[in-house]
Amino acid sequence: MPEMLVDGHPARVALFVSGGIAAYKACEVLRGLQKQGCEVRVAMTRHATELVGPKTFEALSGHHVTLDLFCDECSPIPHIELAEWADLALVCPATANAIAKMAHGIADDAVSTTLLACSCPVVVVPAMNVHMWENLATVANVETLKSRNYLVVGPETGRLACGESGIGKLAPVDQIVSATLYRLRARGDLSGKRVVITAGPTHEPVDPVRYLSNASSGKMGYAIAAAAAAHGAHVTLVSGPVSLPEPAGVGVVHVTTAAQMLEATQDAFATADAAILAAAVSDYRPEQAADHKLKKAAEPLDKISLAENPDILATLSQSRGDRVVIGFAAETNDVLENARKKLASKGCDLIVANDVSRADSTFGSDTNRVTLVSPHDEVELDCLPKEEVAEAIIERLHEMLEPSEPAAEAAEADQTLLMPRTGAEC
Ligand code: CTP
Repeated sequence: MPEMLVDGHPARVALFVSGGIAAYKACEVLRGLQKQGCEVRVAMTRHATELVGPKTFEALSGHHVTLDLFCDECSPIPHIELAEWADLALVCPATANAIAKMAHGIADDAVSTTLLACSCPVVVVPAMNVHMWENLATVANVETLKSRNYLVVGPETGRLACGESGIGKLAPVDQIVSATLYRLRARGDLSGKRVVITAGPTHEPVDPVRYLSNASSGKMGYAIAAAAAAHGAHVTLVSGPVSLPEPAGVGVVHVTTAAQMLEATQDAFATADAAILAAAVSDYRPEQAADHKLKKAAEPLDKISLAENPDILATLSQSRGDRVVIGFAAETNDVLENARKKLASKGCDLIVANDVSRADSTFGSDTNRVTLVSPHDEVELDCLPKEEVAEAIIERLHEMLEPSEPAAEAAEADQTLLMPRTGAEC
């Protein structure tokens, strides 16, 4: 049996089964986790017990199944005992009701009360009717969970238990098991590290109501901040103006202009181990911003004189010492060539080269297609959701902060490796 250890003991997964038809698949998930060396304990909602008997989970897990807040044969406070025992909480299947309760902190049975008491990472695997999944209430609840760093796996599109076809099917068992193992492994590997991340555009004022800017949504930088926090880092996110919820567990400093972003980023970098600069900083600002709204008839505007903004990435790279600095290159043509030039001219450790001319990797899209360009190698990733690109960047940051011996040797050998990752195309 492979060992999946957390703090020296087999990883402990609390499996919360809520009342969806897919509850029977939770038995296979339990077995899959045990095969990977995890210890699993189960809590079930009353509705779930209508679908699969608790005796089945008891026999499979080898543990008493938590059904009630009060239990004579087990712990006097079972929900706290289970919450404190768990290294990870896996909610599978997660019904719309279970998701709503988690999003709103409702604790009215053993499952919801234990989940509220859990401070460990949470993986949520939704399964429900397509209309329930697409209901705006569920959409908002899932967004809330994601903003708190809950990992949401699936659902898939297919034929549903209710007879309809659409999105709502439980993700495949092996995908649930690997996502759970991934979250367990990621647990705390950046703990004690301080990371500063920039995100979003900057606004450079022309007058009190107008500005120069660009179309950056901030999604990539926010996803990186969430991923770094999920890995246990202390994260400062210096954000330009965006309309995104603040990621859980991240300190956010809101700024407007490039000058403010430079100051806030330098402040945070003074005590940081690494910086990842994903912001689309305006390269120029109006030399002089009017202190009143410009009137088109009275003050015809045929040109705006511009001054160059400070380059935050180059500034931080110059004084980085042994700290890691990662930048982005937003390009529309000659992507790799331009990224290599930026790596050299800015003097950073890694450039995430990003073709923003493509619909699936442009500003505002939910996916991204990037190549990680370092002085030693170039790693091309498939088109992936921005959250997965963020995970890949954070994994790379982890390697750079704590290189394993072969990785360190490879870096010294200055080899050029081209390692395309395989996976789904967008
Ligand atoms: N960057 C920065 N400060 C600036 C401009 C860019 O910190 N004033 C950072 C970005 O956050 C990104 C990297 O530099 O990490 C590259 O940004 P990009 O917009 O791709 O390139 P520029 O440096 O602006 O160069 P150009 O516009 O000529 O491509």
